[in-house]
Amino acid sequence: MGFVLPSKGILQSEALKKYIYETSAYPGEHEQLKELREATAKKYGNLSEMAIPVDEGRFLSMLMKIMNPKKTLEVGVFTGYSLLSTALALPNESQITAIDIDREAYEVGLPCIQKAGMENKIKFIQADAISVLNEMLNNVSFSISHAIELNLFVERVSF
Ligand SMILES: C[S@@+](CC[C@H](N)C(=O)[O-])C[C@H]1O[C@@H](n2cnc3c(N)ncnc32)[C@H](O)[C@@H]1O
Repeated sequence: MGFVLPSKGILQSEALKKYIYETSAYPGEHEQLKELREATAKKYGNLSEMAIPVDEGRFLSMLMKIMNPKKTLEVGVFTGYSLLSTALALPNESQITAIDIDREAYEVGLPCIQKAGMENKIKFIQADAISVLNEMLNNVSFSISHAIELNLFVERVSF
């Protein structure tokens, strides 16, 4: 099969990675995640490696299904591969707050998010995450149950 293996990901053995990507990760990838990945590669070339690879997307999806959170927070959206992976795994009533300083990249993936019917779960905030998080911490009173419900995913955000 003519799949391109990404240089990063969870899997460290090349042979195992090739096997899992070819037999499971790519064939099982949601259609709109595949479209989003391809649109990202077309627009950003090598920079598209900023997005999580397909195996991490599958792992994230599995975690979401196990944890079943009502609210999640994603800091660092880029074109939305991890965001769409999360949205697809969560039930309809769940809410994802997604923050990125760059709206242009989010708009590359947005048509795929819309096509997958996931836009209603997402509140995208274009801003510096530091100020938004500070404001959230000042305005939200956390209880233990809130803290358990609110799953914070922070990936390589420049602080
Ligand atoms: C590694 S990418 C995120 C990849 C994304 N999770 C995915 O799967 O495609 C990091 C993102 O963080 C954003 N970012 C960096 N510093 C930021 C900040 N201070 N506030 C908000 N977003 C920031 C960048 O614009 C970039 O889109």
